[in-house]
Amino acid sequence: MFASAIIANKRDGLSLSREEIEFIIDGFVANTVPNYQMSAWAMAVLCRGMDSREIADLTECMLNSGVRLERATDRPRVDKHSTGGLGDKTSLILAPLVACFELDVPMLSGRGLGITGGTLDKLESLAGYRCDLSASEINEQLRSIGCVITGTTPEITPADKKLYGLRDVTGTVPSIALITASIMSKKLAESLDALVLDVKFGSGAFMRTREEADQLAASLVQTGDRMQVKTQAIMSDMNQPLGRMVGNACEVNESIDLLRGGGPEDARELTLKLCAALLVATGKSKSVEEAILQLVDKLESGEALRRFQEMVEYQGGKFCDELPLCKATEFVSDRSGVLSAIDGQLLGQAVIELGGGRRELSDAVDHQVGFEMLVRLGDKIDSKQPLVNIFARTDSSRAVAEQILRKAMTIC
Ligand code: URA
Repeated sequence: MFASAIIANKRDGLSLSREEIEFIIDGFVANTVPNYQMSAWAMAVLCRGMDSREIADLTECMLNSGVRLERATDRPRVDKHSTGGLGDKTSLILAPLVACFELDVPMLSGRGLGITGGTLDKLESLAGYRCDLSASEINEQLRSIGCVITGTTPEITPADKKLYGLRDVTGTVPSIALITASIMSKKLAESLDALVLDVKFGSGAFMRTREEADQLAASLVQTGDRMQVKTQAIMSDMNQPLGRMVGNACEVNESIDLLRGGGPEDARELTLKLCAALLVATGKSKSVEEAILQLVDKLESGEALRRFQEMVEYQGGKFCDELPLCKATEFVSDRSGVLSAIDGQLLGQAVIELGGGRRELSDAVDHQVGFEMLVRLGDKIDSKQPLVNIFARTDSSRAVAEQILRKAMTIC
């Protein structure tokens, strides 16, 4: 077999065989398929697409490039993946909350890059929290408390790590086939029984339109099902941040409110929906309605918050129910009207300007900066009304963030 022939087949729109896909992926990991051929292949996949059988084969080959987590207990294993958005703190609540139902949640998460925040960065706002657990530490923690949120290990899906780096610099990220295989290979390496996907659409999401998000959701669900993992997608709107807080420590504070049964309604509703899907998929609840009642009970009894605290402490973190933030200043409206649009990309850029996000994966993040959104889309706004509380480290970063916010929020 020759890589050049496989690339040409895809360029001509042919469906690749399992053997051809395996040859390319294994060769890429072994360095016998060089980056220039892999880039050409990724571009051919982006332009020609893949059918669902090819996507499942690609996912499985990427999964097989590394190891899978072994099952630690007899309890069903579940997880959630979100396609990323502003203010999305649902993972911090979901993992301890569903673990209260005798489900194991081996959540391997990522760091923020670009405009979307990373779950690991948020948790590292808690002093000492470790995100580099080994496979045996993950299993030990699952046996004890049923949930873990940590970074992926180097042995898991090395093909994805290498291919993602190449896609990032060759304009081949936005391929449904490549995104599906990338996301699902990592999630399937957790050896799950059920997976729920939060597929976001809108100005602050990876997929800007509902149609693109629907296509991605269908591809992810088909791939999960083909690989015997009960997979469900929930579509969610990312035309404005989820909840009020956007940043690292401030999102942990809001998560703790949610774990106490409070918090903003949109974040609570989405988190409960995602958790309910997992309870129904694993037979813990007969219906979504029943699941929601059971979940609310775990929030209001304090059990979910206690499980979160246990998780933090197990991973070396110091639990704190209100993390300190940089000094807040109000950003006020310069006109009256209705808040008709929020440009999520700009808002995300403003978080990066404050130091709360990364341009490069090696950048450090400032955990104590961020925003509290004081208004929602559709709200009537008066001139001089406070729109956002800005938590900034310096006057200069606050001034830059204010300039961006002025452009990001349309009031007319
Ligand atoms: N997230 C991933 O993990 N992979 C992609 O390709 C895109 C988003």
